[in-house]
Amino acid sequence: MRQMKTGIAQLPQPNAEQQALSVDLIKIIKRSLHRDDGLRFSHFMEQVLYTPALGYYANGLAKFGAGGDFITAPEVSPLFGRCVGRQIAEVLMRLSNGSVLELGAGSGALAEAILLALSEIDCLPVNYAILEPSASLQQRQKERLAAVLSDDVMARLIWLDCLPEDFTGVIVGNEVADALPVEVVRLMPDDAQQAFVHWDEATERFDWDWQHIVQPELQASVNQLRAMVGEVSHRGYVTELRPVLPAWMASLSQTLRQGAILLIDYGYSRREYYNPSRWMGSLRAHYQQRAHNDPFWFPGLQDLTAHVDFTALAEAGFAAGLTVAGYTTQSNFLLALGLLDLVDPQADVVTHLKLAQQIKTLTMPDEMGENFKAMAFTKDIDGRLTGFSLRDLRVSL
Ligand SMILES: C[S@@+](CC[C@H](N)C(=O)[O-])C[C@H]1O[C@@H](n2cnc3c(N)ncnc32)[C@H](O)[C@@H]1O
Repeated sequence: MRQMKTGIAQLPQPNAEQQALSVDLIKIIKRSLHRDDGLRFSHFMEQVLYTPALGYYANGLAKFGAGGDFITAPEVSPLFGRCVGRQIAEVLMRLSNGSVLELGAGSGALAEAILLALSEIDCLPVNYAILEPSASLQQRQKERLAAVLSDDVMARLIWLDCLPEDFTGVIVGNEVADALPVEVVRLMPDDAQQAFVHWDEATERFDWDWQHIVQPELQASVNQLRAMVGEVSHRGYVTELRPVLPAWMASLSQTLRQGAILLIDYGYSRREYYNPSRWMGSLRAHYQQRAHNDPFWFPGLQDLTAHVDFTALAEAGFAAGLTVAGYTTQSNFLLALGLLDLVDPQADVVTHLKLAQQIKTLTMPDEMGENFKAMAFTKDIDGRLTGFSLRDLRVSL
């Protein structure tokens, strides 16, 4: 996601209808506050994003592109999806009757670019399945794709509400792993705490509730963290852990009989992620092209995300029986797949300038080029993947 950083005072105020939607979601979340031992942050994040009809990804408000809350790489340029399409084609050619399964297709921009690229080289998949938890986004994807794709290509599209039992081909997800819920933890000089959420009657909003860690698995991860972060000062060290990753990768591996999984997202290797200098963590809220640090501002109207620990992702994939086939920056991935030859030398000057700007956004280190990474997993296929041939960073994991 590309965005300006801001404080909540500078955020545009949602209109009355949007505020009413948020109030309805708050009522639902408040009911879960007193279940079990309280509301862990990961459960709050899950409800804020996915509560049917009201959660951020389930309500019908605009999210993607210039009029929405953030801009993803497929929205920046169709060249992104065309490169991803080339990587997918390379795998499909090694399989017989392979399909594509896209996780979380957003506005449908990536599906559109991939399918056009595969169509051009006559390498269409048997099916192009989209697993999209949001009913309103499914609808939006159907409308967009029906308007641009031929009947033959449309006939291959299917929408799913859960992972298929048996899949051969390529599973692809751009900016999906960052939307999986995180636990927020805080290391103090002599102690470590886990974030819960409570309702503050005085301010009439949710707020942090720091408690001693109760889950033994989380305590084990925090012990490892402390070894990496070292001495912590009195201001504390706040960061995130994503305990759902192993189960998520296990479910993808169980689905995949043969083929590859390609995940692109913003994040770092574990060593970089838990660097002592990143003491405020990476949890961010996104609203109207602005990023800020308050996850409790108008629940349901803003996206919540945290960077991906790619070492944890690789470990989870390996433990689930997958081969970690490549890890590199988005810039290296796209350039290896021929991003620069996708610009037609016959194109007019205006088109050239527009594409040059898009390429800069996708590849420059201070834009999306280095903060975003691509990681591939394979099962039961041989041969290297071209997207990782320029610079394979697996040794840095
Ligand atoms: C930040 S958007 C990215 C959309 C799109 N891939 C893009 O790059 O523009 C996150 C997407 O992931 C979907 N999503 C969230 N959790 C998911 C999950 N567990 N499985 C599949 N999709 C998921 C959301 O509904 C949404 O479509």
